[in-house]
Amino acid sequence: MVRRKSYLYAVIVFLFALVVVSACAPNPRLQLISPSMVVIAEGEVFVPPTPTPRPRIAELSDEEVLAGLPEAIVALIPGDAQRGLDLTVPQNCIGCHKIDNSLEDIAPIWAEIADTAVGRAKQLGLAGPAMYLYTSITNPNDYIVPGYNSDVMPETYSEDLSEQDLADLLTYLLSLRAE
Ligand code: HEC
Repeated sequence: MVRRKSYLYAVIVFLFALVVVSACAPNPRLQLISPSMVVIAEGEVFVPPTPTPRPRIAELSDEEVLAGLPEAIVALIPGDAQRGLDLTVPQNCIGCHKIDNSLEDIAPIWAEIADTAVGRAKQLGLAGPAMYLYTSITNPNDYIVPGYNSDVMPETYSEDLSEQDLADLLTYLLSLRAE
């Protein structure tokens, strides 16, 4: 009987200790690690850093989009986006470029390439995104996308593609933008 009682006491003491320990545990909210890995104190409101807005082609006027593009090509824009898309098959663009994430390691993906081109043109100090895309096709080694190799993309498109082909391809690429 005595044995049983002390066993019961032990359990009660243990449970009590458990309650005390958990009550004394530090308030986890006090050590909240913010997404920027900054420890914030209780009561402090975490203000996320303002992300640099991604440039959007939709914010540019037609003149700004086409600035710097050869006159002969500008005259043909807007071209036929469907024909541009169709050209990517025989010209094998889609052998390397995808518009989703599936083959990103071979060549830059084309998802929202029009918006990407706005940022690249800005970084490179070029007149505009259409000119950046045009040069990337006709002289692929002029600007190498960081993380990719030069001398991979064929340098023959300036000869193989007509002005109409280029205008249609550009019209298609310029349509690949954020909603
Ligand atoms: C054999 C593979 C290959 C083929 C075919 C190819 N490209 Fe590329 N392309 C690349 C690679 C690699 C890059 C990145 C290196 C660079 O900047 O040249 C690139 C870059 C580009 C860029 C710049 C992308 C960016 O994110 O800034 C554009 C635009 C482009 N290609 C368009 C085309 C078009 C249009 C065609 C077809 C007419 C084509 N490419 C065919 C491999 C290819």
